[in-house]
Amino acid sequence: MQFFIDTALLSEIEEAAALGILDGVTTNPSLMAKAGVRDFDAHYKAIARLTRGPVSAEVISTGYADMLAEARHLHSLAPNIVVKIPFIPDGVKALRSLSEEGIPTNCTLIFSPLQALIAAKAGATYVSPFIGRLDDVGHEGMELIRQIRQIFDNYGFQTKILAASIRHPLHVLQAAMEGADVATMPFSVIKQLFQHPLTEKGLSQFLADYEKLKLPS
Ligand code: E4P
Repeated sequence: MQFFIDTALLSEIEEAAALGILDGVTTNPSLMAKAGVRDFDAHYKAIARLTRGPVSAEVISTGYADMLAEARHLHSLAPNIVVKIPFIPDGVKALRSLSEEGIPTNCTLIFSPLQALIAAKAGATYVSPFIGRLDDVGHEGMELIRQIRQIFDNYGFQTKILAASIRHPLHVLQAAMEGADVATMPFSVIKQLFQHPLTEKGLSQFLADYEKLKLPS
């Protein structure tokens, strides 16, 4: 399973990349706003320099022609930029055209298995089911990952399942068990994945026992 970081903060991307297990980055307009970004193009270029992996940059347009133009522009900023397209009818049309042009895409705001099926049929490189937001409204987000995995396997779709809107390590574990190809998560969750009280306790004990060897007998 690949790990992406879901942030627009350069400091977080740098820190996560330094851990050696980061495979890519996802952003969205809300994350860009939260990071206080003014010059989107310069910022996407800066992110794309921090990782060799894919960097999802989302279009703001909602009409087919404008989305296509924006997608071509975003992809021209760096070769590893993947264009994030919302699941709306014009977005699906854009996915098809971009796929034919060889521009990688990430179909975002996926909340049903049939939306994922349509995005895959249109040639999306990734689909982003939003697990946490489904949990928030009383639906089991992980069921969506399970259904999409089965549909993609039934028909041999190569579109990757990018589990998004991840809120805690259990989401990452369950998404991995269900066969999601990628999990994108906030930096706080990446850090939580490294923590286990028994690891910390065990290491302290090992080091304390080693120190005892150094005491004069
Ligand atoms: C995915 O690419 C989105 O940026 C993200 O995962 C949304 O997460 P949220 O529901 O926590 O905003």
